[in-house]
Amino acid sequence: MSEKSDTATLKIDGQTIELPIVTGSEGDRAVDIANLRARTGCVTLDPSFMNTAACYSRITYIDGEKGILRYRGIPIEELVTKVRFVEVAYLLVHGELPNEEQRRNFSALLNRHSLLHEDMRHFFDHFPQGAHPMHILSTMINALAAFYPNVDLKSLDADVELSCARLISIVRTMAAFAYKKSIGEPVVYPRHDLSYCANFLNMMFDSPIQPYQIHHDAVRILNVLFILHADHEQNCSTTAVRTIGSAQVNLYATISAGISALSGPLHGGANQAVIEMLRMIQEDGDVDKFIRMAKDKNNSFRLMGFGHRVYKTYDPRAAIIKRECDAYLKRIKYHDPLLDVARRIEETALTDPYFVDRHLYPNVDFYTGILYRALGIPENMFTVMFALARLPGWIAHWKEMAGAGTKIVRPRQIYIGKTEEETSGVMANREPQLLW
Ligand code: ACO
Repeated sequence: MSEKSDTATLKIDGQTIELPIVTGSEGDRAVDIANLRARTGCVTLDPSFMNTAACYSRITYIDGEKGILRYRGIPIEELVTKVRFVEVAYLLVHGELPNEEQRRNFSALLNRHSLLHEDMRHFFDHFPQGAHPMHILSTMINALAAFYPNVDLKSLDADVELSCARLISIVRTMAAFAYKKSIGEPVVYPRHDLSYCANFLNMMFDSPIQPYQIHHDAVRILNVLFILHADHEQNCSTTAVRTIGSAQVNLYATISAGISALSGPLHGGANQAVIEMLRMIQEDGDVDKFIRMAKDKNNSFRLMGFGHRVYKTYDPRAAIIKRECDAYLKRIKYHDPLLDVARRIEETALTDPYFVDRHLYPNVDFYTGILYRALGIPENMFTVMFALARLPGWIAHWKEMAGAGTKIVRPRQIYIGKTEEETSGVMANREPQLLW
């Protein structure tokens, strides 16, 4: 970040004030209004933070107009071809890619803390049949605070490191256990000889009657998907993490809040919603009808997996996933009719003025579900996969927020409710209640 380089002039109530403009390392500019209320009595109004930078950050850079996404300065296109997810997790959390020794130590730490406390395993028995795995996951992560030392912003660095590694590792075990429970199979424990993604696939699909064959291709695809989901700066769930963390809540509760935010269909839940939509369109057979519905302001239907608050061009993650999806399905000779539907929707939407004018392109979720299906991941686990991948990002933001000495997040509002004058007399005929 460069120093404040310029000022903006604001005229208000006959007074002219200068507001500093700050410039980021990639040239993003912002008017710093932190002292505006103290100087003028005014706050700024920006519902849903359409135009508000809530913090400085060194983690992820996005250029939504050009379709650029970089973690710690490195383009995702390079990361997906040259490193594994665990290295990206290290990069996000620590700020640099690990050298060979750091990578080995980090992997060893993940392995050491991959087992779930046995008492927690019984929790899975008490969720109702059909409970969504995202609800199970957020509950289980919250419960971690009762089993493992509580880590908050005041904890020692070493405890924070250990808890972050434990989270990245153990949540993967929890996710696989939740799946095994849901299909009534015995859980499969993590293995030290397997890499992070291979371990996850093995815990998901190995069974006493049919050992799981780990395929290099599947492991690579999972690495790519996890890397592409690992961080996305100040999205809804990360903002939840930073906001809740600012109240000095423990790390587990903070991450649990991030998982809850992610579960919504307008956010991480969209990957499951896309598949449900594609299936509905496939069964109906009339793609154009659904495109019309998506454009109709009187219809709540939206093209799931389309549009993005920040990207006003093709989401660079979607571009990679689409490519990988085509290649992987061809390699494993798997024909998914939903991919045909997805392609037709994309072709139609990208030439339709409604979508073109609004800059609505496929986002990360549009093709992701098709790849997960090809890997054998059930639909209700899609958003859990997103959560596993996003953990390093949330943790990196939690650490950055803590390190910056962030004050508790507390926006203001413009009150538009009743005035005292408007309610005068409402209480006039009521006697004071001495006993309740
Ligand atoms: N289908 C049809 N129309 C859409 C879509 C869509 N998927 N997305 C946006 N639009 C339209 C809106 O109706 C609006 O039109 P208008 O200007 O005529 O009123 C315009 O495009 C702008 O949309 P907003 O909702 O104002 O954009 P916002 O930035 O608030 O929302 C969001 C972004 C939530 C992603 C939205 O595009 C959407 O609902 N997409 C579908 C859900 C989805 O795929 N979510 C995953 C996002 S990626 C992620 O979180 C990992």
